Amino acid sequence: MTDPSLFLHTPLGQAGSGRVRYGAAWPFGAIGRISAEVLEVYRIAAAHDARDPRADLRERGLPVPDLAAMPDPLRRLYDAARQYLLTLDHPGAAEVRAGLPVDPGPLQAQEAGSNAVADRWLGPAVGVAGSDQPDLCAAILAAADGLRWVTYDAYPRDAIGDAFANGHAFASILGEDAPFAARDFDLGLFLIAPGTLYRDHCHAAPELYAPLTGPHGWRFGPGGPLTVKPAHAPIWNPPYQPHLTKVGPVPFLCLFVWTRDVNLPARVLPADDWPALEGISLE
Ligand SMILES: [Fe+2]
Repeated sequence: MTDPSLFLHTPLGQAGSGRVRYGAAWPFGAIGRISAEVLEVYRIAAAHDARDPRADLRERGLPVPDLAAMPDPLRRLYDAARQYLLTLDHPGAAEVRAGLPVDPGPLQAQEAGSNAVADRWLGPAVGVAGSDQPDLCAAILAAADGLRWVTYDAYPRDAIGDAFANGHAFASILGEDAPFAARDFDLGLFLIAPGTLYRDHCHAAPELYAPLTGPHGWRFGPGGPLTVKPAHAPIWNPPYQPHLTKVGPVPFLCLFVWTRDVNLPARVLPADDWPALEGISLE
């Protein structure tokens, strides 16, 4: 994972890069780290992938953003994630809240590294989610450089399919890579590329998905119909409940929580309609 400020400097000319740059700037504008005048330059340049907002800023005598890492970015992300999760009402909320203390103790830097899915999709996802949750999204961007993004490879490739295998990444905030593994609890971020089908699967861990983007499609039994849900509609999966996600036109970005049994593996549940679901678009 690269420094989040680099999303502001996505290469000129790359398709959609103007929007990525504006999307990366927006959360920082919302918390005052970028002035309204500077943010306006990024907004105007958003529709022009080849236009360099830094050149526009210099021309207008405005400062080019220098977004050095915020102090304690992991703690800031934990606090923002916890604050968001405490606002949600859903089955299992008590289990989730019990694992999120006000003071989690010192958070340690993780062994971060580059991840192709996070590099490609985190910026656009935060660009979408930033208008709803500016503080949380600013915290995500500020911490992203210190997170270890993992593309899970424990599913059999032919069962989970290439699209999901190549198109997702997750990062623990409290969990395997954080100093809380002994708690048997995991809080993290989960990212999936637009349009991807995460096929039917289940696991022992009780699970909360708290999507920050949407809409996305869901079902809770192989062969059943999809239900389309918007951003901020929490999904609670009791132990071994089957679940499937069809990602919509924007990247899927959620906070996830596994409240126990985090080391027991997930398994794919066969269904005969995956080709049809992989071929549809929720747009
Ligand atoms: Fe799950």
